[in-house]
Amino acid sequence: MSRRLSNKRILITGAAQGIGLAIANAFVREDASIFLIDRDETLLYQEAAKLKNEGYRVGAQAADITDAKAIAAAVSQAQSEIGRINALVNNAGVNVFAEPLETSDEEWNRCFDINLKGAWNCSKAVLPGLIEQGGGVILNITSTHSFTIIPHTFPYPLAKHALLGMTKSLGLEYAPKNIRVNALAPGYVATQKVIDYWAGFPDPEAAKAETMKLHPGGRIAAPEEIAMAAVFMISDECPFMNATCLTVDGGLSVQQHPA
Ligand SMILES: NC(=O)c1ccc[n+]([C@@H]2O[C@H](COP(=O)([O-])OP(=O)(O)OC[C@H]3O[C@@H](n4cnc5c(N)ncnc54)[C@H](O)[C@@H]3O)[C@@H](O)[C@H]2O)c1
Repeated sequence: MSRRLSNKRILITGAAQGIGLAIANAFVREDASIFLIDRDETLLYQEAAKLKNEGYRVGAQAADITDAKAIAAAVSQAQSEIGRINALVNNAGVNVFAEPLETSDEEWNRCFDINLKGAWNCSKAVLPGLIEQGGGVILNITSTHSFTIIPHTFPYPLAKHALLGMTKSLGLEYAPKNIRVNALAPGYVATQKVIDYWAGFPDPEAAKAETMKLHPGGRIAAPEEIAMAAVFMISDECPFMNATCLTVDGGLSVQQHPA
């Protein structure tokens, strides 16, 4: 085990699968104590138990990030299980993709409640503790949708643009308190979310092949490749990185069009 995250007590949302789970696995292998939150109770406790059985310091609480009271309670529970939280990864998020005029108010609200307000609920729950402890780190998992748009994915990119805005805002606001707030923007990552996205096309295999072709390297990221960047951004290896965004997309978002 290397020890790049010793003394970090990190709350991770959406940690039962996908990128959040890969981040949890990477963090414990760097000696972090972690507390996992997800609304999928079964999967969450199953994954937390696996890590505990491997001897890692892990706590978990099923909660929905849109429920501010439940999140505040989970943060208190985290303190009694792994000690006071000094870092947060706002990872939980959902795709809400539609043609703009076909987006219902319910879908609009669901998109912003989870992808934006949920991250604020969690930030609000940990920030007083970070201030009292004299510093800390918040990492928001945004997306290349935070600065580029794919037609028919409305209103998800709007919420991810706003999450990047919140990153910059909180980063400036709390820099004098020694709190760093940054964003990590993945492109396509091989998780259930992307498999579900492909499944929405008449020919999912063709859709998958199209996605791969879009990428300069001909492939998409593994969740573990996003977790590697998250380790660096939470660690003390980048103490002056604040209010900014690191893109991890294999070059996807800088090309004018695929070759
Ligand atoms: N997969 C990608 O290609 C990709 C690309 C860019 C950004 N992202 C972002 O990365 C993050 C993780 O994505 P993923 O692909 O691992 O997703 P995923 O669907 O595989 O996992 C997301 C997890 O979040 C949980 N979750 C969802 N809503 C929640 C809520 N309200 N409260 C608590 N838990 C909740 C789910 O139960 C699930 O376990 C998201 O914010 C997503 O927008 C993903």
